[in-house]
Amino acid sequence: MASVQQPIVIAIDGTSASGKSTNARLVARALGFVYVDTGAMYRTLAWHCLRHHIDVQDEKAVAAACRRWKTTLQCVDNQVRLLVEGYYPEREIRTAEVSAAVPHVAAIPKVRLWMKKTQRDCIRFGNLVMEGRDIGTHIFPETDFKYYLDAHLEERSRRRAADGVQENLAARDQRDSQRAAAPLMIALGAKVINNSNLTAEQTSRLIIEDIQARLQAAGRTLAVNPR
Ligand code: DC
Repeated sequence: MASVQQPIVIAIDGTSASGKSTNARLVARALGFVYVDTGAMYRTLAWHCLRHHIDVQDEKAVAAACRRWKTTLQCVDNQVRLLVEGYYPEREIRTAEVSAAVPHVAAIPKVRLWMKKTQRDCIRFGNLVMEGRDIGTHIFPETDFKYYLDAHLEERSRRRAADGVQENLAARDQRDSQRAAAPLMIALGAKVINNSNLTAEQTSRLIIEDIQARLQAAGRTLAVNPR
């Protein structure tokens, strides 16, 4: 178990549109932890490459861009932002073009190394709820708080469509699961939650109750903010 001095890291991994962002935000808000969306960091690099006409399938060029770009981490309203040359591309990274480019960028080992260093650095902001694909397996494998979310493909496609996004989720999951570098997989000891028939409130409650039980077993308690 994490010691009293060590910040706590809650790792939430899972398939695309499995509710990671919504639940990670709910858990972070309830516990007063800092929320980190690691997918947004990969999206930011993909956006940066597109903007600078760097071919996202050119591994060397993307790795070089990742080595050179000028970024800073910022924590605003308990949420970590990755800024590029002082700019936070919040909306720009959610386009279909970026969604199509990002799996290529995310498959590059040197990019993943940079992301690991940067994502681990977020600990300086305090207790974290970090969501992604490899948080429990590669970024913070030492944490005792690992969750893996999933839902049926039809349900996940329905959620994406409700957000106004048409996307081939099966293809993206396949690319994320089959890449050589840190593929999407269930971390050892992770609690798997299939939330096809659960609301976000029910899913986040399951996670919060599990965190509390684990902390209690270690003789620690954590205040939960009312919703
Ligand atoms: O969660 P998202 O759709 O915003 O993620 C964007 C892409 O980044 C997705 O294709 C998988 C990749 N990703 C990753 O490889 N590792 C992470 N920790 C987070 C995202």
